[in-house]
Amino acid sequence: MCASLTRSLKSQSQFSKIALDFLWEFFKLSLKGRHVIQISDLSVQEIDEICGLAEQIIVDPNSFKDVCRGKILAALFFEPSTRTRLSFEAAMLRLGGSVEGFADASYTSTTKGEILADTIRVVSNYADVIAIRSPKEGAALLASEYSACPIINAGDGGHFHPTQTLTDMLTIRQLKGSLEGLTICCVGDLRFGRTVHSLTQAMCRYPKNRFVFVSPKELSIPEYMVEDILKPAGIEYECAERMEEVIDSADILYMTRVQKERFFNEQDYIRLKDSYILDKEKMRRAKKDMIVLHPLPRVNEISYEVDSDPRAAYFKQVKFGMYARMSLMAKLTDAL
Ligand code: CP
Repeated sequence: MCASLTRSLKSQSQFSKIALDFLWEFFKLSLKGRHVIQISDLSVQEIDEICGLAEQIIVDPNSFKDVCRGKILAALFFEPSTRTRLSFEAAMLRLGGSVEGFADASYTSTTKGEILADTIRVVSNYADVIAIRSPKEGAALLASEYSACPIINAGDGGHFHPTQTLTDMLTIRQLKGSLEGLTICCVGDLRFGRTVHSLTQAMCRYPKNRFVFVSPKELSIPEYMVEDILKPAGIEYECAERMEEVIDSADILYMTRVQKERFFNEQDYIRLKDSYILDKEKMRRAKKDMIVLHPLPRVNEISYEVDSDPRAAYFKQVKFGMYARMSLMAKLTDAL
């Protein structure tokens, strides 16, 4: 392990974190009509409310089957997706609303040269809420500047993926019973892994969480995450290169894929793609009540033999994602 960094900057920054949450709560608006570009667009209280409503929906989905009747979701996916797009669509349909959009921008006027701002100006006339995925960092933020309805970032390049984070947090609440006092061990491509960036940003705001970041040097957590998120929040964290040496400390093992689509050089991808493979042998070193999460899709990083381990929670996580998105869209469209 290259346990290079273990930091604790609690006293001063813990105060600013509490002050920020207090100010946020004091000035907070309702969620109606708001954009969700990164998870920090939501206060801790709002995240808790969204997870709480999702838990009500899980218990009694029938009571929510008409709350978005008459509302339209536009799902604009400029980058491939299985879970995010289909779970957004399923979420709106299960709330009684309707869906329009595209999964392949090559059939849209983007190919004729239409810019994103104009696409959003147009589509926000048709829809009550827009979920947008783009390979370009900042695309969702740009969209929010031109939209007449709420924009939800469904993933912008290697940047952020806030609804995956709501998914992860709901899963942790459901399976671990709390979002506090956890050691979260993130493994894989931490440089481009937007889900790790968003999860870290969110879990930093709950007390007594600590992080272990496991990656090859080339794919380590970006400097801006350290300087802008971890240090100001006074979070204890550690970086390592070998999963075997830290897995025993994890309450949450958050596996991620090395993302071929983010590499400029195929040789680098080939060299790094199998850096970490979770198998039964490594699972033997982990806590009995640890849970394994993965935003999916997986390629090689979790062996299929792990799927039958009761701690493997990544397919349960997928279902929680739909409930998290139901809750978020109900709130943004003022359906509840
Ligand atoms: N987790 C996730 O974003 O998966 P998709 O790329 O399939 O949407």
